[in-house]
Amino acid sequence: MPSPSRGAPALTWEVQDGIAIVVLDCKDQPVNTISRAVKDEFRACFETLANDASVQAMAFFSGKPENFIAGADIEEFVKLTSAAEAERLSADGQDMLDQVARFPKPVAAGIQGACLGGGFEFALACRYRVASDHPKTQIGLPEIQLGILPGAGGCQRLPRLVGARAALDMILAGKAERAEKAFRLGMVDELVPPPILRSITIAAARRMAGGWRPKRRRPGGFIGWLLDGNPLGRMLVFRAARKQLEDKTGGHYPAPFAALEAVEYGLRHGMLEGFKREAQLFGQLAVTDVSRKLVQIFFATNALKKDRGVDGAPAPVAVQRLGIVGSGFMGSGIAGTAVAQATVDVRMKDSELVRVAGGLRAARDILDDRLKRRRITKYEHARLVALLSGGASYAGFWRAELTIEAVFEEIAVKQQVLREFEAATPDGAVFASNTSTIPITSIAAAARVPERVIGMHFFSPVAKMPLLEVIPGERTAPGVVSTAVAFGRRMGKTVIVVKDSPGFWVNRILAPYANEIGHLLAEGASIETIDGMAVRFGFPVGPVTLLDEVGLDVAEKVAHVMLAAYGDRLQPTAGVAALVKAGRLGRKSGRGFYQYSGGKKRGVDSSAYELLGVHPNGGPRPAEVLQRLVLGLLNEAARAVGEGVVRSPRDGDIGAIFGFGFPPFRGGPLRHADDLGAARLVADLERLAERLGPRFAPCEVLQDLARRNAKFYP
Ligand code: 3HC
Repeated sequence: MPSPSRGAPALTWEVQDGIAIVVLDCKDQPVNTISRAVKDEFRACFETLANDASVQAMAFFSGKPENFIAGADIEEFVKLTSAAEAERLSADGQDMLDQVARFPKPVAAGIQGACLGGGFEFALACRYRVASDHPKTQIGLPEIQLGILPGAGGCQRLPRLVGARAALDMILAGKAERAEKAFRLGMVDELVPPPILRSITIAAARRMAGGWRPKRRRPGGFIGWLLDGNPLGRMLVFRAARKQLEDKTGGHYPAPFAALEAVEYGLRHGMLEGFKREAQLFGQLAVTDVSRKLVQIFFATNALKKDRGVDGAPAPVAVQRLGIVGSGFMGSGIAGTAVAQATVDVRMKDSELVRVAGGLRAARDILDDRLKRRRITKYEHARLVALLSGGASYAGFWRAELTIEAVFEEIAVKQQVLREFEAATPDGAVFASNTSTIPITSIAAAARVPERVIGMHFFSPVAKMPLLEVIPGERTAPGVVSTAVAFGRRMGKTVIVVKDSPGFWVNRILAPYANEIGHLLAEGASIETIDGMAVRFGFPVGPVTLLDEVGLDVAEKVAHVMLAAYGDRLQPTAGVAALVKAGRLGRKSGRGFYQYSGGKKRGVDSSAYELLGVHPNGGPRPAEVLQRLVLGLLNEAARAVGEGVVRSPRDGDIGAIFGFGFPPFRGGPLRHADDLGAARLVADLERLAERLGPRFAPCEVLQDLARRNAKFYP
């Protein structure tokens, strides 16, 4: 029987032997979302089926094979302008799910694909949940990532199902879990292979119609009972969670605190009061600037996923085999990540077999780590490990659609590899250089076919860093760009296409930020103040720690390239060279500005000051420290945008957020510049330039925006 609603119904159903099999499929949409219109359909459907005497139970599915429900319709709530309106939307969702929870006939949900946010909240309102172990199945409440909280009852139902501790872990991290883990945590009742999802869910609905009541044991054992099962234990749980949040968010993100409150309030005052508080808090959060910025990032990242990176580019070549030249830290990182994420055959080459063996081992470590974290099964692990191979020659490279070189950062070495590659692979496919500084056009000058040469700048460590810069040279063919972009995306990276210019985007805009360290230290600022102020601004780590992480030798090299290209404006910090000379390369050598032992940062190494010839004696005011760090970065970002280094402010902001952790709640450097206003920025930079020198002179782009009272974003 079709759904009675008019238009193109998203919900349809048929009744088979007393079981209503309901299917949600939002036509013309890639994913199912719960919009107002869909909510109305839900209400009508549940009302009709409640009154249909032939129906004894319901089995609910998605009509989309790889998506269950992606949550509430985000487009809808970003249009809300007042907290009261947003509160009503949340209360309305709770109301609808209350109707599901109180439905007089048992409901079983069969989950396959993303079951997120409002989608999972719907599943929580059902009496029984079966999940398929399809690789696309992921279950969770990611609302925090959007600066809001689960506002359709999730803060009330999840803790009652899995206990406060596990629920807080899920809600406060906003992380989605794979089906196996969701099952282990008790978020779903049954885990099945995809082909039997339907029959098992229908069978559960039928059993429940016959009077069977699913029995649930709260996970967590005795400790779980001690902590979750009584008010005192819960108080400890909430106190610990709040403390953790304070450390983690630096007070910049209100949503996790609000979610914590919604859960705590509900457990203390009961479900109904909990719903009310949850809706109020949802309303307040939905209209905050933080939430707006996080939602913009969600949409910008989605838009980037569809961008081929160059206008009118032909479809990318599907890469099935990947060649890697250079088996060091970067080469093995690229190899391991490519296998783990894109399931491609990887052939690695280096000059000596021992090196290749080391590279293959390091690549395998990435797979071992995934196995340890239960992200892949033993079977998948074995299959992926078998995809890694290598040797000391180019044998097999002719079959690779893409080869990435990650050899020593020296143009002559890279060109030599390019020549060897072209000689060994006459029909040569795409050749990508993982350089962080050398212009691609210069490398490609040695190529027989420069159209096939491109840059793919991965960040270190490759398995963890989410950004990839793709850099077409002057003659790179458009199809090569789309191939590199598409493959980067398959490796799980957020990809931006940037202009072939020194430092590309990320290292370019980081240069003044990193250089300012030297000036500040010379004026008596302490390393703690510099890093502390950047962290207070919202960076995950401060610039001094960042240099230690990148490696001071690498930072020094990049800085010299920047100086050669852009002159005095980007004069590097002299101190870094002194530390490198003393063999202090940062985390990797156990000492840099900080000391490291047992893999942990152990505080500032005060002898660094002596090596640099500086004395921390207060220095500039902390507010000035921060202003100098940030404004230099914004100024360079604006200048680079004017030179077309990124294709749009969107790419620039996403690059800065994913490349080095520019605070997401500020939306990226260009959005932040818009928020401050070009006129104010220009005035502040002029004041700094007057006092500290021309490195702070506002760039033409900012001056022009200030004159026109314009912004980067419309
Ligand atoms: N609302 C509106 N649009 C959504 C959406 C949502 N919840 N989820 C996905 N979309 C859109 C995307 O914007 C994209 O649109 P486009 O094609 O026009 O660019 C399209 O669906 C496809 O999305 P992806 O390109 O991201 O597809 P993937 O297959 O890569 O990923 C996904 C699918 C895992 C579902 C991913 O889209 C995702 O994580 N979505 C967001 C999930 C989320 O945050 N849900 C919580 C929503 S808030 C909520 O539920 C509040 C409630 O508590 C009251």
